[in-house]
Amino acid sequence: MSRFRVIEFQLLQACNASCVYCAYDQNLPEFNKWLPLEIIEKTLAEEKPEWVWFEGGEVTMSEKSKEYLLEAMEIATRYGVRSRINTNCRNIDPEWSRRLADGGLKFACVSFDTLDPECLEFLRGFPAGSGAENLRRLQSNALSLADEGVTIDLEATVTRHNLHELEALYDYAESVATAGRDIIMGAQCLVATYEEVFGLYPDMYEMAQVFRRLVARARASRVPLRICCSPLVRCKYPELYDPHPNVIWVECTCGFDYVHIQATGEVLLCGFWDHAEAIGNLHEASLREIWEGSLLRRAALNETPEPCEGCRHWDGPGRCHNTCFSVAYRKTGTFSSFAYDITTGAIAEAVRGRRA
Ligand SMILES: C[S@@+](CC[C@H](N)C(=O)[O-])C[C@H]1O[C@@H](n2cnc3c(N)ncnc32)[C@H](O)[C@@H]1O
Ligand code: SF4
Ligand code: SF4
Repeated sequence: MSRFRVIEFQLLQACNASCVYCAYDQNLPEFNKWLPLEIIEKTLAEEKPEWVWFEGGEVTMSEKSKEYLLEAMEIATRYGVRSRINTNCRNIDPEWSRRLADGGLKFACVSFDTLDPECLEFLRGFPAGSGAENLRRLQSNALSLADEGVTIDLEATVTRHNLHELEALYDYAESVATAGRDIIMGAQCLVATYEEVFGLYPDMYEMAQVFRRLVARARASRVPLRICCSPLVRCKYPELYDPHPNVIWVECTCGFDYVHIQATGEVLLCGFWDHAEAIGNLHEASLREIWEGSLLRRAALNETPEPCEGCRHWDGPGRCHNTCFSVAYRKTGTFSSFAYDITTGAIAEAVRGRRA
């Protein structure tokens, strides 16, 4: 039985922000849907993955959700599974940083898109406070987690509105990575779970230019850079992928050793997968039964687009899967189209739409 590297649980659906690009349905009341702790316990007992990632919506949005998170992390610790959260960090003050670290939190992926207060307000749409106040609060909360010994990934979701800031964000991460703090920088590329997201995408040519400089910076420096869901595929941009210990390309392990569970119990190949394409529900069957029986998963692993036939990056631990293959599937209903072409085509169309 192959072991999961990551099981990601959405503990609750609701969120305290309204980001322009959010892949999730944000407009849900807090008490709408919570994933039962018994499901987490059963799944972790059976699977014992290397990591469990907890997220929402926003898993730290209220006192209740943070207490719930502590209970979920206690279960993970009992099964020897390391805990990570994905968070906008708005409600993690120093007191909560200490409680979460004491509760077993090892890693926090903190959304950190910009150093520009106006851009922060535009991208993330927090419900109260000025852009400047919210930026200060985000910085101080993120660093309070780092000061409690939690590794933090300051992660920018890359849009055309903050692409030009990526190098400054790297410099910021480096400036706060003082002794005793474990800090990395993340660049999460946009995944278009719905069509409007393409309109927020940066121009691919500019994106490649910025990523070349960003990668060069990380190669010459000490703060690791972690890039997820990149549309800049290896075969088109080989120079970006020259191996370096400080540059981590997180390639697509959908269907392989990572799985996402919605608060409703629905199992998805990824959190950014089309939410109408669940492969099963944990209220009805075990994760293993769903995982082994899924025809969608089998097709995702076995169908190969023609340009990728025989490519040594298609399979194995550094799986490429040419850009985000969930987008190709959403738009074509198969995995055999070259997702890179679909993504670049859709971005160009969005640009034309803006000009018209
Ligand atoms: C879905 S959020 C959930 C956790 C938390 N609410 C947060 O924003 O950090 C996890 C990460 O996914 C990113 N994200 C959201 N929608 C996305 C999309 N359409 N494409 C790529 N990343 C996205 C967010 O910026 C965040 O870094
Ligand atoms: S904070 Fe996270 S879950 Fe909430 S709207 Fe933003 S990206 Fe979506
Ligand atoms: S798997 Fe496909 S997209 Fe990825 S590097 Fe190989 S040929 Fe290019």
